[in-house]
Amino acid sequence: MERKPDFSWQDSPVFVGNLAETLGPWLKGQSYSQVLVLTDTHTHVHCLPRLQNLLPYPFHTIQITAGEQHKNLETCTLIWQQMLLHKLDRKSLLINLGGGVIGDMGGFCAATWKRGIDFIQVPTTLLSMTDAAIGGKTGIDFQGIKNTIGVFQAPAAVFADPAFLHTLSDRELKSGLAEVLKHGFIGDPKLLDSFANLHPAALRTLPWNQLLTQSIAVKVRVVTEDPKEKGLRMLLNYGHSIGHAIESYFLGTDSPLTHGEAIAIGMICETPPPHQTRVAQILEPFFPKITIRKEAMPTLWQLMLQDKKNSSGAVRLAIPDELPYTMQVLSITEQDLSEMLLQYTNASY
Ligand SMILES: NC(=O)c1ccc[n+]([C@@H]2O[C@H](COP(=O)([O-])OP(=O)(O)OC[C@H]3O[C@@H](n4cnc5c(N)ncnc54)[C@H](O)[C@@H]3O)[C@@H](O)[C@H]2O)c1
Ligand SMILES: [Zn+2]
Repeated sequence: MERKPDFSWQDSPVFVGNLAETLGPWLKGQSYSQVLVLTDTHTHVHCLPRLQNLLPYPFHTIQITAGEQHKNLETCTLIWQQMLLHKLDRKSLLINLGGGVIGDMGGFCAATWKRGIDFIQVPTTLLSMTDAAIGGKTGIDFQGIKNTIGVFQAPAAVFADPAFLHTLSDRELKSGLAEVLKHGFIGDPKLLDSFANLHPAALRTLPWNQLLTQSIAVKVRVVTEDPKEKGLRMLLNYGHSIGHAIESYFLGTDSPLTHGEAIAIGMICETPPPHQTRVAQILEPFFPKITIRKEAMPTLWQLMLQDKKNSSGAVRLAIPDELPYTMQVLSITEQDLSEMLLQYTNASY
């Protein structure tokens, strides 16, 4: 029997739990002409075995090379070529089995194939389970600029199964953790309780089914109230204004940071007192301070000026105010940025 979804967003059900109890029964209730599964190098090996026995339809797979550098038009061409080869008609289903890269790019390829076929998200990283798979944003990078081309399109369903986390590296797990904690800060202080005073080595022992449900609840609520990013959805960018600048800066060095590592620093730096101490207390055990050299400051400021939320030379930060679900927008100068970074990094001056 088909299980009741944990959430529903724009008519698309979101299930948390064992795929055998969620995806299997859901698929039996559908009538697709064909199923195509999109994987990357890693999810093909680690995740496809869990999925394939549940597919009641004959299916083909498309495997692409793992990595953000492949979230581009060239890879879309490969995917569309396979869709053509397998004669995918408008009643077909694409299953995106992977992290945010697979979900974003597969979603985009499906949304544009024959003016749109159904796709489902089966996220396999913590980041994609809690964040990327929810909210209907699909897209690819273009000429090196992230998420430049894409469409809003809700998936037919989302299936988050924490069992996939077992094969994820510690570093990728922590990258997603930053978004889970972000959801705690912006919408559900209770979610943070499980992480306060937790030794990072104990992360894998947490009840992820329940934590995912709590974290997804925050994202679903925000995107439901603000589907097209007019206001409240800006809260999801908490930590990302400074974080994205730090992420881009370190991408050009020989010690790049993960997205989560960068936005964790971003959240700490963006938060004004009196909340800052608490935010740092929770994040620092998982995300130790990084070193930023004074010479990096002008580059970081230039990177921040590119942020979409800015207006006329000032950088605007959306940060949680009185928790939960309220925000304030701060305008900051280059000098403010230096001071914010100085406080919570090993900035060398
Ligand atoms: N659409 C949205 O709203 C939204 C939100 C946030 C992020 N994103 C996008 O998501 C992407 C980042 O997502 P990500 O962090 O999941 O990256 P990712 O998809 O690159 O996955 C990270 C790495 O983990 C591997 N992997 C995935 N699942 C695994 C598993 N279960 N076991 C072992 N290895 C596994 C992947 O092959 C990859 O090497 C970015 O492109 C970002 O722009 C989109
Ligand atoms: Zn993020």
